[in-house]
Amino acid sequence: MTNKVVSIAAAGILAATAAPAQAQFAKPEDAIKYRQAAFALIGNHMGRINGQLKSNAPNVQVIQSSAALIETLSKLPFEAFIAGSESGGNPPTRAKPEIFKDAAKVKSLAEKMQAEVAKLAATAKGGDINAIRAQFGEVGKSCKACHDDYRRD
Ligand code: HEC
Repeated sequence: MTNKVVSIAAAGILAATAAPAQAQFAKPEDAIKYRQAAFALIGNHMGRINGQLKSNAPNVQVIQSSAALIETLSKLPFEAFIAGSESGGNPPTRAKPEIFKDAAKVKSLAEKMQAEVAKLAATAKGGDINAIRAQFGEVGKSCKACHDDYRRD
């Protein structure tokens, strides 16, 4: 790596950590796409875990790997609910306008989901399918709790 590349990379890291969330997205559409993409990946990996839990011979490694990914992905969507992204998007955002107003409630729902997801990842490492199934149910409830109030059908 040349020095120039190194300093550009360093500047990128600084921008990513220091800039306000708003500056991470060139336009509101980008923020909508970002959060939809993050949720779509979370949903995909929840589906993979569900598939394993329904099978006669669940593959614990698949569950562990998806749970670990969901733990990381669960941190992503919420910085993208920026002012100006209340409507628009392609497909159109399903976020209800209230999610941009009820900051404290939304934060607590997001943190609850992240905590349940972290517990799922930890439980998956233990490999006990019944315990994983129970915790998977808790994660599902924490998703639904937010969707009921803040996502359109
Ligand atoms: C704090 C609120 C909140 C929590 C918690 C939450 N979601 Fe969502 N989710 C939303 C909102 C709002 C949208 C709509 C985003 C948009 O269209 O801009 C959404 C969209 C989605 C979508 C559709 C993505 C797409 O393709 O557009 C999926 C799938 C999804 N969520 C899955 C989950 C799962 C699984 C969990 C739990 C592990 C979860 N969500 C937790 C608020 C939440």
